Amino acid sequence: MKTLGKERILSRLLPCALIVLIFIKSSQFREPSKVAVARNYNPLEKVSHFHYEPSMLESYFIVNLEALGLRIKNRTRTCPLIFNASSPINDDMQAYFRELDHYNDLMKNVTPVEYDLRKSIEHDESNIEEVCSVTKIHPDGLGGIFAKGHASISNTMGAMEPLLPVFRSQKICDGSRRHLMSMEYLVHDFYSMCKNLKRHSRNIFVDMGASLEFHAGITSPAVYINQIFRRFGFHFDHIYAYEIRQVPSARVYELVPNELMDSFHWMNVGVDPEPGAKLNPFTTLLNKFNSDDFIVVKLDIDTSSIENRLALQLRNDDRLLELVDLFYFEDHRLQAELMPWWGKSANGSIGESLELMAGMRANGVASHYWP
Ligand SMILES: *[C@@H]1O[C@H](CO)[C@@H](O)[C@H](O)[C@H]1NC(C)=O
Ligand SMILES: *[C@@H]1O[C@H](CO)[C@@H](O)[C@H](O)[C@H]1NC(C)=O
Ligand SMILES: *[C@@H]1O[C@H](CO)[C@@H](O)[C@H](O)[C@H]1NC(C)=O
Repeated sequence: MKTLGKERILSRLLPCALIVLIFIKSSQFREPSKVAVARNYNPLEKVSHFHYEPSMLESYFIVNLEALGLRIKNRTRTCPLIFNASSPINDDMQAYFRELDHYNDLMKNVTPVEYDLRKSIEHDESNIEEVCSVTKIHPDGLGGIFAKGHASISNTMGAMEPLLPVFRSQKICDGSRRHLMSMEYLVHDFYSMCKNLKRHSRNIFVDMGASLEFHAGITSPAVYINQIFRRFGFHFDHIYAYEIRQVPSARVYELVPNELMDSFHWMNVGVDPEPGAKLNPFTTLLNKFNSDDFIVVKLDIDTSSIENRLALQLRNDDRLLELVDLFYFEDHRLQAELMPWWGKSANGSIGESLELMAGMRANGVASHYWP
């Protein structure tokens, strides 16, 4: 659904980041250049080609990976990095967390959109503003909730949470399990996403690692994704749910909400990370869908060797970058706070993951960590 400009941000950002990195290495903890801070954030502005502006909080970590010890391929504690009173970004970081609470309060109190937004869009899309206005949670859009530079912004997907070294809610840092599966670190800008919808867009959700029953008693994450999108008038036409663990079909359909019975495809097989393979979910996307479609992909299969191949395929294939709009990924890295749950499935440095996810964002895919 997005229009990717010829101009790729990363190719411009990378050389800059390298120069800054070399500079940082010699001068130690230096505040990231203000150039990296989102300027002229106007969520209402229609921009003709793709652009991503990372939050100053995100830039701080990406630019200082080495100095902050995030390139170490060993168990790394990440909570001290986001709760560090001496860090140059601490005030903004803590202010951002307060804004996030406010955002979540507004999200909870929103009046659900009872219909599929696409059905209200005129053929020439001239009424898109009016159609999308029902998805606003603040009169000024998310720019009215998050201060300049706090949220990351893309002109097609709007505001999103900054990528941080703690891949989940900052509230897991209190040491309790209470917030372990919290989704309240995710920032979705439905109003901006809606403005890119077309009447003929198909809404697709590919769920790799669908494990419907994984969180006994808690709404399954995939069902959560469906619920939150549906509350904002985004209805999925197809949900491809891949799961390697054998689940009796009767149980699956007991768990699938009625509203998804026409769109839910239960694929009780493991995904194949080989590009082009029949059971590689990207093969179906490439063969059947186009960039006018709204495509959401979730990857959480608890096996780093397979999931990393799939994530890299998305990152490195221009056609997929063009197709996929949102990507949720539980990237199992050596994050000390999550090791009790991840154990042997974790591998690789935090920094490598942040670069991967930021690289996707710079190239048109709104990537988010998945709990
Ligand atoms: C990784 O951490 C372990 C203990 O936590 C330590 O013994 C080992 O030396 C570390 N390896 C590196 C390369 O830092
Ligand atoms: C906190 O930030 C200061 C200043 O950047 C740094 O010197 C210190 O090592 C940091 N502490 C931790 C635990 O990361
Ligand atoms: C971790 O990743 C490295 C390559 O980056 C690989 O050689 C190693 O086998 C992986 N370890 C596990 C446990 O998957």
